[in-house]
Amino acid sequence: GNRTFTMIKPDAVGAGNTGAIIKMIEEAGFKIVAMKKALLTKERAGQFYEVHKERPFYNDLTTYMSSGAIVPMILEKDNAVEDFRKLIGATNPKEAAEGTIRAIFAESIEANAIHGSDSDENAEIEGKFFFAEVEKF
Ligand code: GTP
Ligand code: MG
Repeated sequence: GNRTFTMIKPDAVGAGNTGAIIKMIEEAGFKIVAMKKALLTKERAGQFYEVHKERPFYNDLTTYMSSGAIVPMILEKDNAVEDFRKLIGATNPKEAAEGTIRAIFAESIEANAIHGSDSDENAEIEGKFFFAEVEKF
């Protein structure tokens, strides 16, 4: 597919890294199709990360994801999902390759700066979670 979904997470938005992260995304060849600034309630964060609800870190994760503003975006590029996961790096910043967004901006395995969809199907679902049809172009 040629689209993926991302959101810049509360740690990175709060630290003032939104602009620097968007610059890296654009320089890597991704086109921003839709973008806004939003605040998740804990309940809404729980819905977004529903697949992780049995994990021990679920409560901490949803508290963190509702702790401050996020910047969700729909992005376009050939091979978008895979190339974007490469650009952001491993979940744990200690394991993220040098030069990746998480290696540069993430604070911890939880506060890891940015999300990237893990499949074309989830990219579609996650984009629809944040954006109405009229907001996309
Ligand atoms: P996303 O792009 O945010 O989905 O990250 P991911 O696909 O690299 O990781 P995964 O979907 O497995 O986990 C979702 C999010 O849960 C991560 O990005 C972290 O914010 C958080 N997380 C994952 N593993 C841990 C963990 O072991 N401890 C804590 N506290 N948080 C975790
Ligand atoms: Mg994931």
